[in-house]
Amino acid sequence: MKERRTRASRGVTRREFVKAGAGGAALLSTGIARPARGAPAVQSSGPKPLVISSGNGNRYKNGGDEVVVERAFRLMTEGKDILESLIAGVEITELDPGDASVGYGGRPNADGVVQLDSCCMHGPNRRAGGVAGLEGVRTPAAVAYQVLQVTDHHLLVGKGAQNFARNMGFEIEDDLNTPRSREMWLEWKRRIDPGHYLDPKKRAEAGHAAGLSMVRDGFMDEEEYYGTINCDGLNANGDLAGVTTTSGLAWKIPGRVGDSPILGAGLYVDNEVGAAGSTGRGEANLYGLCSFHIVEEMRRGAHPKDAAMTALSRVKDNTVEKRLLNSRGLPNFGLSFYVVNKAGEYAGVSMYTSERSTFALCTENGPESVAMEPFLEGSPSD
Ligand code: GLY
Repeated sequence: MKERRTRASRGVTRREFVKAGAGGAALLSTGIARPARGAPAVQSSGPKPLVISSGNGNRYKNGGDEVVVERAFRLMTEGKDILESLIAGVEITELDPGDASVGYGGRPNADGVVQLDSCCMHGPNRRAGGVAGLEGVRTPAAVAYQVLQVTDHHLLVGKGAQNFARNMGFEIEDDLNTPRSREMWLEWKRRIDPGHYLDPKKRAEAGHAAGLSMVRDGFMDEEEYYGTINCDGLNANGDLAGVTTTSGLAWKIPGRVGDSPILGAGLYVDNEVGAAGSTGRGEANLYGLCSFHIVEEMRRGAHPKDAAMTALSRVKDNTVEKRLLNSRGLPNFGLSFYVVNKAGEYAGVSMYTSERSTFALCTENGPESVAMEPFLEGSPSD
C-alpha cells in the first residue's frame, strides 16, 4: 500500500490547530485538532481560498509529494479553473490503490467487479456532470467532467458511460481490482452464503452483516465500507465548485448506485451560496437529498455546521426501519458532510465521530486534518 505519512500524521504542528475564533483550539494526543469547548464549530477563514474534503483528502499521495487538498489548493491558487483543480486533486486517491474506497483498487461489487460513481459541479458555469456504474476507468471524476463539458446531459450510466469514456480517449481496463481489493472481496464471499442460494432479502442482509463483521474484525474502517471522497473549493474570486468520486458501498448488488453521482445528494454547489458533499450511507442521504438541503439552509443564513446538523436531524427522523436502528433507537450507520459557504466558513459534520474522524482542509497554511463535529454522541453500534 502506497499510503504515506501526511503532515497531519507527523504529530503536532501549529497548522494542526483549528482556527476556532478567540477560543483557540484544544489539541488531543491523537494529533487531531479539535475545537475548544464552547468554541463555535464553524470556523471562519474569511474570504480566503480554501479546499475542504473528506479525511482521505489528507491521507493519500499515490507516490507523489502532495495530498488531494494540497494539490487542488495549489492549482486553484495558481489560477487553474476551480473545478479542474479539484478533479486533479481527487485523482490522487482515484489512482492510489491504498485508498480502497475510490477509483483503482476500490471495493468491487458482489460479483467482484469495480463499478465507480462520480459527479462534479462548476459553480460559476452552472454546469454539472456525472457517471454511475462505470467500469474499467480509474478516474471517473474526469469522465464526469467530460460529461459536463461536451454533452447536454447530466448523468451517464453503465455501458453508455463506458462507451462515452472510450470515445473521449480514456483507457478502458478489464479489471480495476488490486490484489488487496480482490483479497477483501474473497473474504467477504467466504463470510456469506457460499452457494449464493439465499432468497434475495436474506442474501442482502447476509451481505451487509458480513461487511459489518469485517469492519468489526478490523479488515477496514467503516469509512472504507461506504467509500468515497468529496472535495469542495472556494477560490479567491469567491467562486465555488465540488466533486465526489467513489467505488460506492463495498460488495454492493451489481448496478447499485448510491448518493455520490446524484446532484443534490452526494454533491451540490450554488455559486451564490456554498457547496456541500457527502460520504457515508448513500441510501440515507438520497432519501433527504441532503447536499441540496444543506445549501438551501445556508441560503437562508445558516452557518455550514448548523446547515449540516439540520440535514442530519432530518436523516435521523427519517430513519424508522428497525434494521437501521441501534439499541438506542438511533441510526446505526455513518453519514458525513463537508460544507463551505461563499464567505469561506466551513464545517465537517458526521452522524457520529470517533478519534479518527477527520476532514481535510487546505488553506494558505497548508493541508491539515481537523476533527469532525458529531451530530449524535456515542457510536452507530451502541
Ligand atoms: N456514499 C457512497 C455510497 O453510498 O455509495
